Amino acid sequence: MSASERGSFSSSFGVIVAMAGSAVGLGNMWRFPYLVGENGGAAFILIYLIFVLVFCLPVMLCEFVIGRRGGANAVKSFALLAPKSAWPLAGVLGILAAIFIMAFYPVIGGWGVNYLVKALNFTFSRAGEIDYGALFNSSVSSTVPPLIYMAIFLLASVAVVAFGVKNGIEKCSKVMMPVLFFLVLGIAIYAMCLPGAGDGIRYLFRPDFSAVTGKTVAAAMGQAFFSLSLGMGAVITYASYAGKNTSILRESIATVSADTVFAIIAGCAIMPAVFAFGYSPEQGPGLVFVTLPALFADMPGGGIIAILFFIAFLLAAITSAISLLEVMVAYFSERLKISRGWTLAILTIFLLGLCTLSSLANGPLADRKIFGMDLMTFFDYTSANFMMTLGALLIVLFVGWKIGKTVYVEELTNGGKIRVPRWLLDGTFFVIKYIAPPVIVAIVLVSILG
Ligand code: PHE
Repeated sequence: MSASERGSFSSSFGVIVAMAGSAVGLGNMWRFPYLVGENGGAAFILIYLIFVLVFCLPVMLCEFVIGRRGGANAVKSFALLAPKSAWPLAGVLGILAAIFIMAFYPVIGGWGVNYLVKALNFTFSRAGEIDYGALFNSSVSSTVPPLIYMAIFLLASVAVVAFGVKNGIEKCSKVMMPVLFFLVLGIAIYAMCLPGAGDGIRYLFRPDFSAVTGKTVAAAMGQAFFSLSLGMGAVITYASYAGKNTSILRESIATVSADTVFAIIAGCAIMPAVFAFGYSPEQGPGLVFVTLPALFADMPGGGIIAILFFIAFLLAAITSAISLLEVMVAYFSERLKISRGWTLAILTIFLLGLCTLSSLANGPLADRKIFGMDLMTFFDYTSANFMMTLGALLIVLFVGWKIGKTVYVEELTNGGKIRVPRWLLDGTFFVIKYIAPPVIVAIVLVSILG
């Protein structure tokens, strides 16, 4: 596909909303709150924030540099920057990670559709009548309904990508992201005003380091990469659609800030309510689907809050799913030289198959284990904790040691046209070259051995 046939974002703002759309997703609305709950609250958040600032921002800058300079999909960008080398394999790992994530993401998106339907029927307004744990188990473990909801979510995401980069991804993100922001902010303000919310706010902001272990640190790192869509080519792909005169630094800082603010606001929307109604924050993945519905039932106006919450949940999930699809569509259509439409059609059938297996792993196929995990947990665990971490490691090694500082500085300053403070260029490159690689390896080892 020639450069002129490739899509592009219309402006720097378009890049930022699309990137923020990719970053803000189930990672913020579902994974972050329950990890915070499982890992003791504020201490986890603090470690997470340090990672985001010290490591994730530099990793994001690297992906931007690779994608915009390469100007191609996640594999070809490596090939163009390092011809006749094995580096494109780092991109192949990214495509694989995208497939693994899209093998379970639509299933959880489908749970969101299911819960929105329930909320619209005011299922969550009947305090004390329903056992929400049992409701969740029966909702996800039955055979056919979760498949239908999953397919609705997947097809909605496919429809957006079918309209292309500018008219699909960018336009949809421009509409959905502001709506999402105000919805989540409104719910957070409401939750923080509930009587008894103070304990939840203290839990989020007053750290207790006594419970921190190597695993907490590893979980924080995995979550940071997952939440920022790093280490698997999503940023590389989107950056390849960014204009050559936009500022990579500004776009990266804006994306990282938006994602982090969303994670904190989502925490503020959920934890104060959990504490206010005397629930335990350590619910694991069921937090959003079991604890929250029970809360909605107890809350004044909870029926409406439930509807708004699950709409926000779906908006966040769709803008992320489309970025995962785009990574695959860009690669396969450019590689196999087939149209985007055909590529999407074939991918949809393939992903429907994979997601069917993941969905059934919560019910009829629950006993089929891979490495001791059911299939859906396997896709989730391997993608975030292994593939994205390894991907991020290869990406920093590539920029730090293969393409080097001259190219890095050229891209961040657009060949000297943008003034970027020297300490920032030197500091981030130092982290990329010398600090990030050993730290990532050390944390992965600690989490495997510890
Ligand atoms: N960042 C997304 C989220 O938080 C997930 C994602 C990962 C999207 C990797 C694209 C690429 O839900």
